[in-house]
Amino acid sequence: MIPWLLLYLFGAVHSDLHKLLSTLPQYSDSRIPPILRPLSYDLQLQLPLSEVSDPDIPLFTGRCVMQFEINQQIGPESAFISDSTSNRARIKFDIIMLDHFENVSLVYNGNELEIFNVQLTDDSMELSVDQPVLFPGRYTMTIHRYKGLIGSALYYRDAGEHAVFGSHLFPNRAPAVFPTYLGTTEKVTFSITMVHPIGTNALTSGASEAYPRKIDDNWQVRD
Ligand SMILES: *[C@@H]1O[C@H](CO)[C@@H](O)[C@H](O)[C@H]1NC(C)=O
Repeated sequence: MIPWLLLYLFGAVHSDLHKLLSTLPQYSDSRIPPILRPLSYDLQLQLPLSEVSDPDIPLFTGRCVMQFEINQQIGPESAFISDSTSNRARIKFDIIMLDHFENVSLVYNGNELEIFNVQLTDDSMELSVDQPVLFPGRYTMTIHRYKGLIGSALYYRDAGEHAVFGSHLFPNRAPAVFPTYLGTTEKVTFSITMVHPIGTNALTSGASEAYPRKIDDNWQVRD
């Protein structure tokens, strides 16, 4: 018999995002305003089609469309444009163990920019473009596919007959789910789509202030 899987993800994502957005950014120098401001995220997250009895499947898949604004020209890094390697403008985002980035694109004013490289470390994603500057304005970055560690973003819990994946999104864990930029305090809109196995439920609290609903002796949900 296929066990019933309960996905309790977005309620917690939402409430934690509020926390995230109200958290003070940790700039090393508070006098410097961020040059990049996220405007919106369109996220699609897919949990693996794994058996509930196998919580060890470690990866989720994501797709991220992020709109942001650059309010100050980025680059050139040096006055010597002739040195082509050091004259690719870069932007660095925070991630936590996100990997396998596929088909990353950056669009500015309707034009797709040539991406030179996407360099990943455990905690950063650095995008460099094949041009020395990024001009102020609005950009759309799309990561068509990436993977993240369930264990770093979500938790799994056996709740009696049900299995539960919940968000693990304390504000500082958000980069384990999607790339962020300096934990900004600005208002960012989120649109989140969940892809999950048939026979499972995805629950969200949304923005509503609904009361929690009891689903069994051990669990309640908030719609
Ligand atoms: C990435 O781009 C290649 C080539 O255009 C395409 O075949 C592939 O499906 C794309 N992958 C994703 C995840 O969009």
